[in-house]
Amino acid sequence: MEDNHTVMDTTLEQLVGSLKDTPGALLPILHRIQEQFGYVPDRALPIIARALRCTTADVHGVISFYHHFRLSQPGRHLLEVCRAEACQARGAREFERHVKEKLNIGFDQTTADGEFTLKAVYCLGNCATGPSLRQGKRVLSRMNSARFDKLVEDLTTYKLELK
Ligand code: FES
Repeated sequence: MEDNHTVMDTTLEQLVGSLKDTPGALLPILHRIQEQFGYVPDRALPIIARALRCTTADVHGVISFYHHFRLSQPGRHLLEVCRAEACQARGAREFERHVKEKLNIGFDQTTADGEFTLKAVYCLGNCATGPSLRQGKRVLSRMNSARFDKLVEDLTTYKLELK
């Protein structure tokens, strides 16, 4: 574990060092860290604060302000459910209820098996064919309970290749 932390700290130091002189460096740094690790680890906060000469509370404040940033490791699959008005008008509330029940988690939580992280988003630019859900980079239309159950099954079914 110690070695993993040392490797992570070294990567964080390099990444922060390469961007710290960029104007408005905090956001680019946070984006790069999340791209690299999938989230912003706690260990990054003092490293960023030291480099930018601010406090860890300042860094934490910015992370909490932007929904985009995560402070914990996400599940293998990120599912983002649209909660904006046009999707609501097309049945998103009922869909959202089903998603939470099926996964047994709420927004900003990860299933116990580490498979799924659920996030709320407010418009995916797919309003005419909602309810909308983004899974990784794809935006899925006309979501309902049956389509969601199928998606979960597809994402958690592993194919055995027989030789
Ligand atoms: S309101 Fe859901 S995609 Fe626009």
